[in-house]
Amino acid sequence: MSSLNLDQLYRRVIMDHYKNPRNKGELTDGGLTIDMNNPTCGDRIHLTLQVEDGIVQDAKFDGEGCSISMASASMMTQAVKGKSVEDAVRLSKAFSDMMLGKELDDSLDLGDIEALSGVSQFPARIKCATLAWKAMEKGVDSDANPK
Ligand code: FES
Repeated sequence: MSSLNLDQLYRRVIMDHYKNPRNKGELTDGGLTIDMNNPTCGDRIHLTLQVEDGIVQDAKFDGEGCSISMASASMMTQAVKGKSVEDAVRLSKAFSDMMLGKELDDSLDLGDIEALSGVSQFPARIKCATLAWKAMEKGVDSDANPK
């Protein structure tokens, strides 16, 4: 596939997640709740997670933000659901590395997330793409290390 076509495909995947977000809403059965802002623009995410026995059983998000931030949140919830906390955090670190333009381990199954790889070329948008992931990491960390 030429890189132009790949760009178009990636753009389509991003817009699909933005327009038809997966896991939009809020879990109401007493899971973890994380609110986070993107300090550069004030956009926000409200993430709820259900973590049991070290597994992310469910994840939902709500919020306001640009297409990249909301598409990334949709992809993140889809990607971490059913994963162990350890694997979810590992994927989040890989996502951060991808935003820095680093080569990733081939064994990682990125799925739709790969569509955001081009964001690494736009440093001002990296915080948009990582917002939901930082929120997820904060949530599972607070679960593991309650204050
Ligand atoms: Fe605010 Fe992207 S511009 S999250």
